Amino acid sequence: MKCRVCRGPAIIDIRRHNANFCAEHFLKLCRDQTAKAIADFDMILPGERVLIAVSGGKDSLALWDLLLEMGYDADGLYLGLGIGDYSDDSGTYVRAFAESRGARLIEVDLRAEYGYDIPTGARAARRAPCSTCGLSKRHLFDRAALDGGYDAVATGHNLDDEAAVLLGNVLHWHDEYLGRQLPVLAARNGFPRKVKPLVRLGEREMAAYCVVRGIDYQVDECPMAEGNRHLAYKDALNMLEKRSPGAKHDFYFGFLARASERFRTTIDAEQDALLECERCGAPTPSEICAFCRLVEKAAGAQPVTITTRGGAV
Ligand code: AMP
Ligand code: FES
Ligand code: ZN
Ligand code: ZN
Repeated sequence: MKCRVCRGPAIIDIRRHNANFCAEHFLKLCRDQTAKAIADFDMILPGERVLIAVSGGKDSLALWDLLLEMGYDADGLYLGLGIGDYSDDSGTYVRAFAESRGARLIEVDLRAEYGYDIPTGARAARRAPCSTCGLSKRHLFDRAALDGGYDAVATGHNLDDEAAVLLGNVLHWHDEYLGRQLPVLAARNGFPRKVKPLVRLGEREMAAYCVVRGIDYQVDECPMAEGNRHLAYKDALNMLEKRSPGAKHDFYFGFLARASERFRTTIDAEQDALLECERCGAPTPSEICAFCRLVEKAAGAQPVTITTRGGAV
């Protein structure tokens, strides 16, 4: 197996590109694909400051590393979700990475700053853990980006994630989600710009990137998500990709180019019609935003403990 670029020994084959790459040219491919996504969708303009939401997993740590290597002014944001050992370990990986690169990391601890953690908040609000988690993340990413004066907030969603979510949304015709499923959402009415610079790279490439760059990351899945929500869609797409390399890419980028516009009709108008939350000022359709209602419900709730290392969940 030889590198397509230099004919040296290859370390990875990428069937979608019908090519093999050595370590050096694989890293270059990752940087080039990230740069192309950023340029094609005007995600980050020269001189802008980006806040990267880092979970401690491979994608967001690779994204932070890539953007720093590419010379971006990129700080990290880690949310301590309080999901037992899983969160403790995730935080350790993020801090170690930040320290090794001399990068600035902002940390927000849900329990210390808002009086709840995901297991407790989910039970108190009678919501599924993943929905409690998603609501908290969206609100706190926006808040941190606006408070810190960042031009954009970036997440580590990769091509596998986006294609799997798209398949789920198409299968059930979730029009509203399809209207929002873009690699960049412009800043609007109290929301910061949101970008996904890894949409041209797959899960396997991100894991390989971390290995080649010597980045230690959280390998475990979140114990609260019963299996990965999109696992079945990912499996289906992997099967299609195996038979027809490039299928995921064509599905996702074909949607963006040909169909996504048709679902955008009401989204902007809906966002413009939002009010300001009476408590925190965040955009909301009601007087008090969903995050503030969650904080209120979780206040004083009996903490739910979960043990993941060698214990019961
Ligand atoms: P997930 O919703 O877990 O698939 O994560 C999607 C993206 O959200 C990740 O790639 C990160 O960019 C970000 N993210 C997830 N968990 C956290 C966290 N605890 N702190 C900061 N960012 C996170
Ligand atoms: Fe959000 Fe698991 S990371 S519920
Ligand atoms: Zn090479
Ligand atoms: Zn609020």
